[in-house]
Amino acid sequence: MLDEKQKLTHIINLGHEIARVNDVDLLLERILTVARRFVNADAGSIYVKEDNRLKFSHTQNETMQKKLPAGQKLIYSTFSIPIDNESIAGYVASTGRMLNIPDVYELPEGVSYSFNKGYDAISRYRTKSVLTFPLTNNRGEVIGVLQLINAMDGEGNILPFAREDEPFILHFANSAAIAIERAQMTRAIILRMIRMAELRDPKETGAHVNRVASYAVEVYERWASVRGVPFKEIEKNKDVLRMAAMLHDVGKVAISDAILKKPARLDPEEFEAMKQHTYLGARLFSDTYSDFDEASSLVSLNHHERWDGNGYPGHINPLSGLPMLGYEGQNGKALGKKAEEIPPFGRVVAIADVYDALCSRRAYKDPWDEDQVLETMRKESGKHFDPEMIEAFFSILDVIRSIGQRYPNV
Ligand SMILES: [Fe+2]
Ligand SMILES: [Fe+2]
Repeated sequence: MLDEKQKLTHIINLGHEIARVNDVDLLLERILTVARRFVNADAGSIYVKEDNRLKFSHTQNETMQKKLPAGQKLIYSTFSIPIDNESIAGYVASTGRMLNIPDVYELPEGVSYSFNKGYDAISRYRTKSVLTFPLTNNRGEVIGVLQLINAMDGEGNILPFAREDEPFILHFANSAAIAIERAQMTRAIILRMIRMAELRDPKETGAHVNRVASYAVEVYERWASVRGVPFKEIEKNKDVLRMAAMLHDVGKVAISDAILKKPARLDPEEFEAMKQHTYLGARLFSDTYSDFDEASSLVSLNHHERWDGNGYPGHINPLSGLPMLGYEGQNGKALGKKAEEIPPFGRVVAIADVYDALCSRRAYKDPWDEDQVLETMRKESGKHFDPEMIEAFFSILDVIRSIGQRYPNV
């Protein structure tokens, strides 16, 4: 058992740990993990306030996770609930007060909120002790709600959440709220850059970039863990990859309207011009200030390379657009990068981007059905795509599908 002082140090360190995460989705995941670990909670969910409702954003459940094959993730759907006094999370958001309930099936008389047993019924999980607290920023506004479920002792028995942990949790909740607001702002700026690109290229929508980024992160995580990349490194890479992947096509802002908005396939000359979006995008991040700039530059430059070496723009200097010395092909163009010459972030975004394009409507094609899409993905293993990464992709297909549903085209 930790004493008070150790607990305080611990919770402050956890605050620092989450402050390092930049991407909002990964941050919410991390906050949940860290908070659960602190009070040894079996499960938990995090809600974020959006348009005066609470959006159920992420959930974790150790017991249910253990029933899945190794490496698989829990699939859940997102939904939103009103901020009112009827649900536990709604009550906490509307009053700004923490609720520490020993057993949600035995709520005290006279409370306005009730517990929704629907989830337990579907999942055959038994929710008992629940600690629900507001994520309050420095201006005193509730920006979300964190709910921790079933505090466990060492033997797997469910206990009520300890009253003496409440102040620590509230301290953590404040660090978490500040980190979430910062990450939301970063996300908003990236989305604004993407909306600028979208004004030019109607295909580059918020939904498309969110899906591509999420697919890329999931495939990367699976591929890297199979390869034995250390957990800490994977987490750090996921963070920068997610934001970089969203910006994969941002170089299209520099491509002419006649090409971007052409409602048909491009002719060869137009296609050549279009290819420039790779290195024009990379140039936007050529003054590298952070891991994020570096990752964005890599993704932009390499997301159209192919594993078999037939992609573009190949071995070029992004600043000049000219072939690197010794890499000129016969036609004067740069030789394509091959296999592991292509950085992993480029290889993984290629998979995510092509997969999403095949599943989506384009000016020159209808969306394909899933069988057709998957067959193509499989066939392109070792041609367009890194075979190991394609294997990772297929091993998390249910996660991939749930991402598609999470960010539908509007
Ligand atoms: Fe592209
Ligand atoms: Fe794209």
